[in-house]
Amino acid sequence: MDKTKIAELLNEDLEDEHGAIIQYLNHAYAMGEGELACEIEAIARDEMRHLDWLAETIVELGGTPSLKRGKMRLGGESVAKWMGNDVLLEEDAITQYKVHIKAIDDPKIKRLLQRIVADEAAHHDKFEHFVEKAPRAGAKDIRGTRQDKTTRILNRGIKHEYTVILQYLFHAYISPNKDVKREMDDQAINEMQHLGWLAEEMVDGGGNPKIEHTEVDQSTQTADMLRADIKIEREVAAEYDRAAREVADPDLKKLLHRIRDNEIYHADVFSDLLAEEEPPD
Ligand SMILES: [Fe+2]
Ligand SMILES: [Fe+2]
Ligand SMILES: [Fe+2]
Repeated sequence: MDKTKIAELLNEDLEDEHGAIIQYLNHAYAMGEGELACEIEAIARDEMRHLDWLAETIVELGGTPSLKRGKMRLGGESVAKWMGNDVLLEEDAITQYKVHIKAIDDPKIKRLLQRIVADEAAHHDKFEHFVEKAPRAGAKDIRGTRQDKTTRILNRGIKHEYTVILQYLFHAYISPNKDVKREMDDQAINEMQHLGWLAEEMVDGGGNPKIEHTEVDQSTQTADMLRADIKIEREVAAEYDRAAREVADPDLKKLLHRIRDNEIYHADVFSDLLAEEEPPD
């Protein structure tokens, strides 16, 4: 099998990891704080590692990691039903990985996929256990239907954070510059924290987080990536600043300021990297 074909198969797997991450985060956020939510978030983090390994391998093969989100199994009127959907999603993943392991002859990539399948099998068993545990633990959907200025602010933030997580990961995979890769990876993790804070704030306040993203910058030159990233950070820092002035709740104000300051830091870090990438003549 040629490299292009292998990269295509791995991109299918990567898209499904992306779908799994968002499905599990949706579930974890919807039930609010608690042990079960934490355990589900830990599984989502495993899927993020898988996504990372697959993307790096695709780049090594000369391919481009896909930004598409694969299948999700959302819906279901109880947490137990959601956990059942998670079991099914893991089954889908295991089936597909096994087909790909058989089809791909590169021993290193086979080994990687086998490693991932072992994780998926463990997730599958955990989710089966969660089907039983959810009612016992009293896990329920605590999302509300609140819709006002605050929920609009939070959902705008969530949309931004999700977008830059994808954007910085993509830039980390594509840029050959090691420093840029490291910073992009680091800041993507920081944006994941922001996403989590905003989603939890939303659910605690009786709203419903919408985990959707907007267009992701797919520049292929490092300097272009950094220019796009600096622009988005400056815009969003200004937006969080404006939002913090609009909200009355002092804790929410504090949260928005904290995120704003992180974004200003990101813009500064990216500006330094751009100056190194393109020294003034
Ligand atoms: Fe999994
Ligand atoms: Fe952020
Ligand atoms: Fe940022």
